[in-house]
Amino acid sequence: MCGIFAYTGTKDCREMLVNGLRMLEYRGYDSAGIMALSEESDIFLEKAVGRVSALASKVDEKKWDSIKYTTWIAHTRWATHGGVTVENTHPHISTNERFYVVHNGIIENYKELKKSLSEKYSFYSQTDTEVVAKLVESLYDGNLKSTMEKVVAKLVGAYSLAVVDSENPGEIVGIKLWSPLIVGKSNDWVYISSDINALSNLAESFSILEDNEMVVIENGDYSIFMSWKKVERDAEAVQEGQKIDELGDFTSYTEKEIFDIPAVLENVWSGRIDFKNKSIHNETLDALSDLDIERICIISSGSSYYAGEIWNYFFRKFSWIQASAIISSEFLSDVFIPDSKTLYIFLSQSGETADVRESMKIVKAKRCMTFWIVNVVGSTIARMADLGLYSHAWVEVGVASTKNVIAQIWVLLMMSISLWLKKDLQISDAREIISELSRLPDKISQALMQGPHIKKLAKKYSVYNDMFVLGRNYFYPVAGEASLKIKELSYIHSESYSAGELKHGPLALVSETFPTIVFNPMGKFYAKTISNIQEVSARKGPILGFISSNDTHKELYTDTIELPETSELLSVFTGLVSSYLFALYLAEALERDVDKPRNLAKSVTVE
Ligand code: AGP
Repeated sequence: MCGIFAYTGTKDCREMLVNGLRMLEYRGYDSAGIMALSEESDIFLEKAVGRVSALASKVDEKKWDSIKYTTWIAHTRWATHGGVTVENTHPHISTNERFYVVHNGIIENYKELKKSLSEKYSFYSQTDTEVVAKLVESLYDGNLKSTMEKVVAKLVGAYSLAVVDSENPGEIVGIKLWSPLIVGKSNDWVYISSDINALSNLAESFSILEDNEMVVIENGDYSIFMSWKKVERDAEAVQEGQKIDELGDFTSYTEKEIFDIPAVLENVWSGRIDFKNKSIHNETLDALSDLDIERICIISSGSSYYAGEIWNYFFRKFSWIQASAIISSEFLSDVFIPDSKTLYIFLSQSGETADVRESMKIVKAKRCMTFWIVNVVGSTIARMADLGLYSHAWVEVGVASTKNVIAQIWVLLMMSISLWLKKDLQISDAREIISELSRLPDKISQALMQGPHIKKLAKKYSVYNDMFVLGRNYFYPVAGEASLKIKELSYIHSESYSAGELKHGPLALVSETFPTIVFNPMGKFYAKTISNIQEVSARKGPILGFISSNDTHKELYTDTIELPETSELLSVFTGLVSSYLFALYLAEALERDVDKPRNLAKSVTVE
């Protein structure tokens, strides 16, 4: 939610700035802005509503003369306070036009601050960030670092801030609380960014700031401070897996990321699962099995919530441990009754989701057992507890999560199998599952080969305004995830139900123009779902089935997508992947912006 990118360097390099901003665009793309400062304090400021490309065109059109700008701050915005307008676009400016501020997060007490500052300063925007710019001016004591200490002492909320004093070129001050901020370095370039994506192709090393830490860039280097004390910390080298891949022949990152899934799976289990001996080797999982766990509760949002629910169905089938999955914002809205025998798992691709982060704070405060499963290395949630595993899905650029969902379910499965093996329970089941899972990448590759057929069907179904998505048991949360992907990517209204629930009300909507998508591969509940399909068919509703090739009732479906022959367990994965292709191709047929669906952001850092 909002991306910050800033740097200082000896060369004027506006192209680098625009590229860096593009890498952060998935954090928000309502508007974007930059401010550049020369050694002689010349200022360049540009803002544009819409994508970074709109800003890039404005920057390109500008006549750059011979001024050399060496200090840059930039921002891509996901609107929270105030509409999508140029006035609300960052950087925000103090009244004396000396201080420039970019911000990610929410200043919860901005109204009170604005009220008191209004006596002296007039405001041009509706944002909470402009309040920070005015605060910097009002508290300025001749030194930006000490001023920022005073500023943040007045703020309530979550923030990462980068601030420039236009009278002091070459210096940028960054500070953070609950929102991420990273500092990177290569030769004499120093960068600040909301996440590693903007830096990974530029910096050689980076440091992730802890809460309340301040980074000061000056003289081509940086120092980190905590309460005025210099923090000595070795910078980490940028790893290959943290770099963003080229798109290659794919038309979008979302498409590429779906086709990457077989390789991602191999990456997730690499060094963790020994398929030959059907065993799992992982220190973290060993540590987990030493804990006295009687229950597991997964806390997450969106696709990560569905990943938790899908796993929950597996887990309930095989385990003696009770498991549940809860939407993080609901966890926050309920009364928390701490349970010392429950392992609370926080599942998040970005590792920044505010609802998940806040839930984790509550659980940690009560000293309960916490565990994270996160994709983005070094993200806030991954730094909040010692015990956790990365989902190892590599960088996911598409705002719609795809490859990471599959990786998350995988990590959860790996965790359960490890627990089963260590506790000497269900050994044969656990070992059977391991050997079955080794076939998964092949099966997913087979499902992906159906792409052209799925594309044709997606074109056909793209004319509808509404859809139901149904499934039972494992396929109930699969239907939820498929429906989320359809909404998010194509903007077609879709709702998911347990197949058995349709007759309790929603069936009233079914008609010739209201299709139903149903997941019904062969398995325990096949026959019951067939009855539900008949109920839809009797009302003339078009039906698209994700089914097994040996389905004996193919005549009931208007159209079918056949899943590769597998066990029911593996068909959960192949079904999900096929539904991702369907949602992607629906969106393409409707000419949507697949990687950046409207109104959304990849990293949701507000509650
Ligand atoms: C998934 O396609 C969505 N973009 C969204 O629901 C996402 O899964 C949710 O915001 C949670 O994000 P997280 O996994 O980064 O916590």
